[in-house]
Amino acid sequence: MEELLEEVIYDPYLPEKWPDPIPAYTKLLKDYPVYYLKKRDLWILTRYDDIMGALKDWKTYSSGVGGNVLEELPERVGNSLGTTDPPFHNQLRSVIGGVFTTKYISGMEDKMRSVVRDLINRFIDKRSFDAAGDFARLYTAGVVGDMIGIPEEDMGFFLNITGASRSLSEDDKNDPEKMTRFLKEMAKYCEKLVEKKIENPGNDVISMLLAAELNGKKMGVKEVSLASITLIGASLASTSMAITCSLATLHKHQDQLDEVRKDLSLIPAMIEEALRYDGSTVGFKRTTTRDVELHGKVIPKGSRVFLLYGAANHDEKYFPNPSKFDIHRENNRHLGFGWGVHNCLGAPIARQMLRIAYEELLPILGEFEIDYDNVQYSKQPQFRGYQVLPVSF
Ligand code: HEM
Repeated sequence: MEELLEEVIYDPYLPEKWPDPIPAYTKLLKDYPVYYLKKRDLWILTRYDDIMGALKDWKTYSSGVGGNVLEELPERVGNSLGTTDPPFHNQLRSVIGGVFTTKYISGMEDKMRSVVRDLINRFIDKRSFDAAGDFARLYTAGVVGDMIGIPEEDMGFFLNITGASRSLSEDDKNDPEKMTRFLKEMAKYCEKLVEKKIENPGNDVISMLLAAELNGKKMGVKEVSLASITLIGASLASTSMAITCSLATLHKHQDQLDEVRKDLSLIPAMIEEALRYDGSTVGFKRTTTRDVELHGKVIPKGSRVFLLYGAANHDEKYFPNPSKFDIHRENNRHLGFGWGVHNCLGAPIARQMLRIAYEELLPILGEFEIDYDNVQYSKQPQFRGYQVLPVSF
């Protein structure tokens, strides 16, 4: 048994080593519902019920103790949604979430469409493009930058720092000092931007957060800057990689691609199924605040536990015939956006961004090809997606 525990079935730090993670998910779900990845000192939960149990029991599976991401830094620039537990988390979430009303989100539709059309115009005559570098990243950066209030020319900096476009080298990942420096640079930039918005408010999230109150008090420069960093960090890689993953998934399922192309009203169902089948955020971390016994194993207090949403989305108890991509799947309650107190605050925005991308792209692309010999997988820990995805049409 000990020997088996040393076997690396799946390692969320090295997503590029699992270009197709589904066989690993299937094996984990069947034989290792509680899998200890010794080399990372990381416990991985895979089954839907166990992950839901952990998400409901946020006191035991805390985000506040160690944060929700795998990259741990010696110093945090501050605490925000992913690094706090209720009750403070609820208060902060209602302020940040308060900005994203249905009206605000539907008001973003024109901007989203115009960014997509502008990008398509840049490659339409060439009949080929890199769906990651020429489209998904620039689209996400354009929309998120506009939403937060960041000038377009500065978005490259954020794409790099958040890992949306930078392939982290092993050296970078193992250099917490370097990562901390990157984050501090980002915080400095955002604080300056917030100060500018105090003088000159606009129609952006920073200006709205400056006008909002947390516990009856206006938020300061540092708090608004942190909230902005949270939104940037949570949206860039997740959304751009969701676009590349779903495009590749569609390409591999030509019958359903044809169906969606003929009836664009199927796009939302297709997006949900693509997020279930091969979504961009494969999981998030928690830290146990007590010993937990699960499937005969004891996860000690203080352990890092990775909730592998990607695997839970292939749990046949909830998703019959899970390895089948099926845009007509019923009851598709996937965990691509998490669940519970920390569920994705930006899910309605992400869904709208993906929908608009496909409404504009599919009629232009027609029958398209992907050059799989030249794709590059993202090396961003805990994400799935493509760094380069060459498409011709
Ligand atoms: C397809 C794109 C996206 C995917 C797949 C995704 C996925 C997720 C997931 C799985 C979580 C749960 C984290 C956890 O369990 O700890 C999460 C949280 C979050 N997401 Fe997203 N996300 C996407 C886009 C966005 C966008 C566009 C925004 C912002 C506009 C955003 C903002 C957030 C925030 C703020 C949280 C933290 C919520 C909390 O801890 O209370 N996300 N996201």
